[in-house]
Amino acid sequence: MGTPTVDISTSLASFELPNPVLTASGCAAAGRELSPFFDVAELGGIVTKSIMMKPRSGRSTPRMAETPSGMLNSIGLQGPGVDSFIEHDLKWLHESGARTVVSIAGHNTDEFVALARRLYDQPMDLLEVNISCPNVENRGQVFACDAIAATRVISAVRRAANPNVPIFAKLTPDVTDIGYIARAVAEAGADGISLINTLLGLVIDLDTLRPALGGVTGGLSGPAIRPVALRCVWQVHQAVPHLPLLGMGGIKTGKDALQFILAGASAVSVGTAVFHDPTAPIRIIAELSDELAARGFSSLRDAIGFAHLSSEQQAAYFAAQTAVPVGR
Ligand code: SIN
Repeated sequence: MGTPTVDISTSLASFELPNPVLTASGCAAAGRELSPFFDVAELGGIVTKSIMMKPRSGRSTPRMAETPSGMLNSIGLQGPGVDSFIEHDLKWLHESGARTVVSIAGHNTDEFVALARRLYDQPMDLLEVNISCPNVENRGQVFACDAIAATRVISAVRRAANPNVPIFAKLTPDVTDIGYIARAVAEAGADGISLINTLLGLVIDLDTLRPALGGVTGGLSGPAIRPVALRCVWQVHQAVPHLPLLGMGGIKTGKDALQFILAGASAVSVGTAVFHDPTAPIRIIAELSDELAARGFSSLRDAIGFAHLSSEQQAAYFAAQTAVPVGR
């Protein structure tokens, strides 16, 4: 990686990051599988696969289907349970020096609270509350589809979690008004918002004439969803401009990442791209830095939400960057 010509440090509430590129939950387990490709401590952070209280085998197979410019997954929150996660995965992340975002998922508010309590003293930088997994037994468990259910989970987790650890609510794009949900979770105590989770989708297998996935429906990810994700980041930045956003959805290059920053994200997660290019997150750090420099930004923070400014405001920023101070 070349030396950044731009200050690319950023923050997600009280979590300070040297660069804005993280993994996306569920696409690199707890980070260990990326370690043969690069030092995971070089990333802005690792976001772990959402963990639940108990070990869970997930949904029936097949669990993945290819789609145009994307993929559908129906994993069903498979995982080792929080105790094993703490003992093996979180310990490894801590020893590796990785900045860590722990993602949690629950069947109900009580399970989210139990997870927040169990993780209270564990080493981590941020807690991502996954209230938007599409692959659950009933749609009532997609808490982020309903402002009241989302509020209930987030306020309970905020009370139970370590107050020194920021909590981010992870939202789904499958709602009528994502700005409304964002305002609700902000009022409930979320320190920031991760967006977006996958979109609910379906593929029919033309050989079996049945749904391709064992779970019938699945979550759509990859470049196909990027414009939807960007639209959500844009709308949520307008709805809660004071809250930091972690943006994701089909990011493959530094140019893609820059669009998310300009729309209002303070940092980005790279997910589906790692399945065909495990080095994508580390490559995107350098590419994003170059893209910022090429456009005359001196720092990434200046670019956050920049697309919301008028042309005149943007011109004033660049004029100030090139102005020669009086007396020199
Ligand atoms: C899954 O495990 O089914 C995916 C999790 C998610 O999309 O939140």
